[in-house]
Amino acid sequence: MSSPDDHQSTETAASVVGDVTGTGVFQVVLDGYDAIYDALPRGETFSRLWRTNAYGGDFPEEFAHLGFLTVAEAQRMRELLRLGPGDALADLACGAGGPGLWMARQSGASLIGADPSAAGLSAARTRARAAGLAGRSRFCQGTFEHTNLPDGAVDAAMSVDAFQYAPDKRAALAEFFRILRPGGRVSIIAFEVDPAKVAGVPVLGADPIPDYLPLLEAAGFDVEAYEETPGWRERVNAAFGAIADASDTLTAEMGERAAAGAFAEAMLTVQIHPYPRRVLAVARRPD
Ligand SMILES: C[S@@+](CC[C@H](N)C(=O)[O-])C[C@H]1O[C@@H](n2cnc3c(N)ncnc32)[C@H](O)[C@@H]1O
Repeated sequence: MSSPDDHQSTETAASVVGDVTGTGVFQVVLDGYDAIYDALPRGETFSRLWRTNAYGGDFPEEFAHLGFLTVAEAQRMRELLRLGPGDALADLACGAGGPGLWMARQSGASLIGADPSAAGLSAARTRARAAGLAGRSRFCQGTFEHTNLPDGAVDAAMSVDAFQYAPDKRAALAEFFRILRPGGRVSIIAFEVDPAKVAGVPVLGADPIPDYLPLLEAAGFDVEAYEETPGWRERVNAAFGAIADASDTLTAEMGERAAAGAFAEAMLTVQIHPYPRRVLAVARRPD
């Protein structure tokens, strides 16, 4: 499998990949996540609140993540992807790498993680070394729309709790299609977004999609599963509620930039309820 350069770039992700919408949305998301990943090592309260509320502690700590993924969801993803030893897997919006590294450990697949955040990728590389997975994982800067991976590079692709941020979902699905080999599968866990609730809202308002299924079909995929994930709403409300309530402690531990980013997303989510559903989709690129 050919692979991208996995060394940390000295350029910013924005200068590497640009903002596909030209609206600055991408930069807003990137700044927020960079600040959070940078601050995570000193964010004991944030990590504890997130882990407890977002997934009830139901994911190994060595692969802790910033989403809502539980072990049962990850296992279902892995089964539906039919991932096995020697397969090449891409995790787009991998962040600090937890879900993709878990998948590589469980399946024996190799992993390429891509994310725009240099701080997230740095954490992912550290975590891969600690988990003994550095030999079959690599991490590179990229976005949903521009992964910098070659055509047909991977047998499977995944993404967890991030696709709702993609400023151009159709371009992002075309990119998943392009990097998969014919017959390869993608699995996305993401929030559907209610366009009426996010009109004028930064990031989520850029390209709000209330149902990804027709988009997957229009991108040329055969959709094999499209289902709501159990218990997501309670966990979203609990996690963002806990973050909103702890803003002073988070600011003291993580600093103004990181805490403000987390707080802003928490408030937006608990106040406007932008997500009608959180779904797991699995789709196959035809032969
Ligand atoms: C909620 S975190 C989830 C990260 C990881 N999947 C996990 O479960 O921990 C969202 C991630 O999406 C990434 N992201 C935001 N906009 C993106 C884009 N347009 N393309 C790719 N990744 C993006 C962020 O940098 C961040 O790492």
